[in-house]
Amino acid sequence: MTQSRSGAGPAAPAAAPVPHSPVADAHLIRYAGPFIPGLVVRAQGAYIYDDQGREILDFTSGQMCAILGHNHPDIVAAITEACRNVIHLHSSQLSPPVLELAQRIAAQLPPQLQKMIFLSTGSESNEAALRMAKLYRGGFEVYAFSGSWHGLTGGASASTYAFGRQGYGPTVPGVQAIPTPNCYRCPIRHCRDRCDMTCLDAGFDLADRQAVGAPAAFMFEPIISAGGIIDLPPGYLTRLRQLCDQRGLLIIADEAQTAFGRMGLLFGYRQEPGFVPDFLTMSKSLGGGLPLSATVTSAEIEETCYSRGFIHATSHVSDPMPAAVGVALLKVIARDGLVENARRMGEYLKAQLRELQKKHECIGDVRGRGLLLGVEIVSDRDQRTPAPTLGTAISERCYELRLSMNIVRLPAVGSIFRIAPPFTITRTQIDSAIAVLDQAIGECVAKHGAE
Ligand SMILES: Cc1ncc(COP(=O)(O)O)c(C=O)c1O
Repeated sequence: MTQSRSGAGPAAPAAAPVPHSPVADAHLIRYAGPFIPGLVVRAQGAYIYDDQGREILDFTSGQMCAILGHNHPDIVAAITEACRNVIHLHSSQLSPPVLELAQRIAAQLPPQLQKMIFLSTGSESNEAALRMAKLYRGGFEVYAFSGSWHGLTGGASASTYAFGRQGYGPTVPGVQAIPTPNCYRCPIRHCRDRCDMTCLDAGFDLADRQAVGAPAAFMFEPIISAGGIIDLPPGYLTRLRQLCDQRGLLIIADEAQTAFGRMGLLFGYRQEPGFVPDFLTMSKSLGGGLPLSATVTSAEIEETCYSRGFIHATSHVSDPMPAAVGVALLKVIARDGLVENARRMGEYLKAQLRELQKKHECIGDVRGRGLLLGVEIVSDRDQRTPAPTLGTAISERCYELRLSMNIVRLPAVGSIFRIAPPFTITRTQIDSAIAVLDQAIGECVAKHGAE
């Protein structure tokens, strides 16, 4: 585990980050709002380092990908070795790392999930699952949560409802949103703090009215992440399976963020005993910071799709170098007991966040599991009024104090910190982050008021 020299802390000088390069202003397309000021020149373990020499604690693992911490030595070694052996091949050629990765993943999965394809991004892995589900079922109707984020390629973005939907013309036909089971902000104004799954039944009733009888799939995240860190209620996946089976919908578990331990479980779908999806997609956590994704399904679905001429040859399908990285990552997770560390550190972090909630009125809710946690910022705890301006101010102050935390602002949902440190995170690093968050909240509430 890579340790920091000093760690972020409230006593640290809060040097203002410099603005980013004018080159960025002149030449880069802004793809998600403005860029964060300053340039990152190095990263190691749980820290990134900017060009002013500031050490910043990264509580989002980059884009939720660097689950072993940044530039883990085993990943660097795997890349180096691949550079000596083979980096890239024609899509129909195989190499030893691809076979080893397939075997290692298959060994962790039940008999229904033994066939896989290796791609580059999360969107691509969902796209492959959707294409196979459509080809296998012969239908095209796809359901997903109203708070979902499944990616930006055609099929994946058509089933992405959290944000970014407007302005790009029509999506593919046959997509339907099912209410996100958010018991802090019940989507059908029915429950408070305990979801009784009426929203699921009501969602399907409505979807049934709109369906044209060509079912393909239901796609879900085990924790709805971009949609506000929403944990599924107990029993939800079993009920979902019943409803999907009744309608002939295959189930795609999108474990971009949750595969290999983020929830303190090897896979998020295992939160409910007995539940197995028809497709399992994994990406961010599988590559540990490099572009690698996988779509896994049953031998029967694979055989049928193959017989129907399934094609999904991308430029980087089955590439040896990312596969070698995936193998290295899985070895480190097993060797260092990182699923268990994610579970234990997640519990500790959640307990510390709950302590902060007792102190700061503006923390309306603390939720999530393992090392995928959400902290919702409100201006009124009883009314649960979203406080996006305060949330943004806290996030910016944290960054000045050398803690990188992502805030998601969703219309009508709120302002939520998405906290996802690497699985290698230590208690000391968590304590540093909590101290920064405490200081930032205190200062921002004093300066801006509750909102
Ligand atoms: C749950 C989930 N699925 C899919 C994606 C898309 O992955 P990518 O950006 O690698 O295409 C993301 C990305 O944030 C995600 O969080």
